[in-house]
Amino acid sequence: MLMLNSRRTSPPRTRRALGAGLAGLLALTGVTALAGTADAATTLASAAAAKGRYFGTAVAAGHLGEAPYVSTLNTEFDSVTPENEMKWDAVEATRNSFNFSAADRIVSHAQSRGMKVRGHTLVWHSQLPSWVSGLGATDLRAAMNNHINQVMGHYKGKIHSWDVVNEAFQDGSSGARRSSPFQDKLGNGFIEEAFRTARAADPAAKLCYNDYNTDGINAKSNAVYNMVKDFKARGVPIDCVGFQSHFNSASPVPADYQANLQRFADLGVEVQITELDIEGSGTSQATSYGNVVKACLAVTRCTGITVWGITDKYSWRASGTPLLFDSNYNKKPAYTAVLSALGGSSGGGDGGGSGAACTATYAKAEEWSDRFNGRVTITAGSKAISTWSVTVTLTPPQKISTTWNGTPSWDSSGNVMTMKPNGNGNLAAGASTSFGFTVMKNGTSTPPVIGSCTAS
Ligand code: XIL
Repeated sequence: MLMLNSRRTSPPRTRRALGAGLAGLLALTGVTALAGTADAATTLASAAAAKGRYFGTAVAAGHLGEAPYVSTLNTEFDSVTPENEMKWDAVEATRNSFNFSAADRIVSHAQSRGMKVRGHTLVWHSQLPSWVSGLGATDLRAAMNNHINQVMGHYKGKIHSWDVVNEAFQDGSSGARRSSPFQDKLGNGFIEEAFRTARAADPAAKLCYNDYNTDGINAKSNAVYNMVKDFKARGVPIDCVGFQSHFNSASPVPADYQANLQRFADLGVEVQITELDIEGSGTSQATSYGNVVKACLAVTRCTGITVWGITDKYSWRASGTPLLFDSNYNKKPAYTAVLSALGGSSGGGDGGGSGAACTATYAKAEEWSDRFNGRVTITAGSKAISTWSVTVTLTPPQKISTTWNGTPSWDSSGNVMTMKPNGNGNLAAGASTSFGFTVMKNGTSTPPVIGSCTAS
């Protein structure tokens, strides 16, 4: 249990020691259940890790300078997929001239934080430069294999799973291949060839076929299923199938989602949920998200879930508010549903963490043209606590000039303040205290992002 909270979410040592002692005591007294939330994971990544899964997000390199974006990424996720930066038009806009700079920024951020990286994507009809579509068959085959070799070679050993081929089947009832330069000029064999080239280019990477509208059992997923079955029978290298899982009211989470994942898993491949987003809001969105997570957890070979972005404001379908964090990085009911389906428990921060050891809520107080005061109220849950800790993340170039009723410490960026008590750590069950700070705007009035409250 205790390792669940490893990496970025470790509770304070005192709580860990207490948890271990308590567990021992309960074992001695024959009490089997360690109830409550003290040891429940409080982030998506740690909760998923406790279930042996990764929890990832699509990331855009252009947002890595935004403090709340990065802090939410670092706190909640342990796998990243570059949203556009590894696509053909991004890395090889001109034949055999490769530019990995934006993708490298994402990969190095992930590596420095111990996150895994999904590679997306090598062979796809979309976001494909026109020079590729203009090639004849012989040249196109050489260009495809060169692209796979160069891109996979550059990231060799750094990618846990690659979407080798993306969206090669048509929608609808035909189960036919989609028309694309690869399909039209190289024929059905292009997928097999891409996978064989990919296996040689980075033998450690898992090789996935990725598609949308294949989430339930239908003609399109049947066609993919038959291809995977054939590949497995003939020894064509394939390790995983990615289910994009872009849902909305016209295309809701299918009732047979889990059954579909399971039938692919039964072919001997991993299944991964690769681009999850569900348009909507409130309880219905939350319920759908929870159902997706439960389906993955029910399938042993479903190894991880990636949501297609962090905050609604940067979603490719922003108007559908399909993600887990709203435009201000507040956790939505969908977040709580995902965390809970993963067996975790909100430590607060969104004020919605019933059963949490403590919660933290933010309010803006006085404001002047150049600065504003913020106040964070800490409220103990159903048990007394003796200390608490909360992070406050600024948007640069904001700076905090002064604080009160807390003991601050700062991370190396100077953007994330961790606040601990200053004589106000002891709170009876349900009791509150608050700390305050002055934010120098330096041109931006964005409210700070308040992290989950942890307590012991
Ligand atoms: C989308 C990105 O999110 C957008 O920013 C971009 O403009 C278009 O592509 N299926 C995929 C993803 O495999 O690569 C797509 O990503 C969404 C649909």
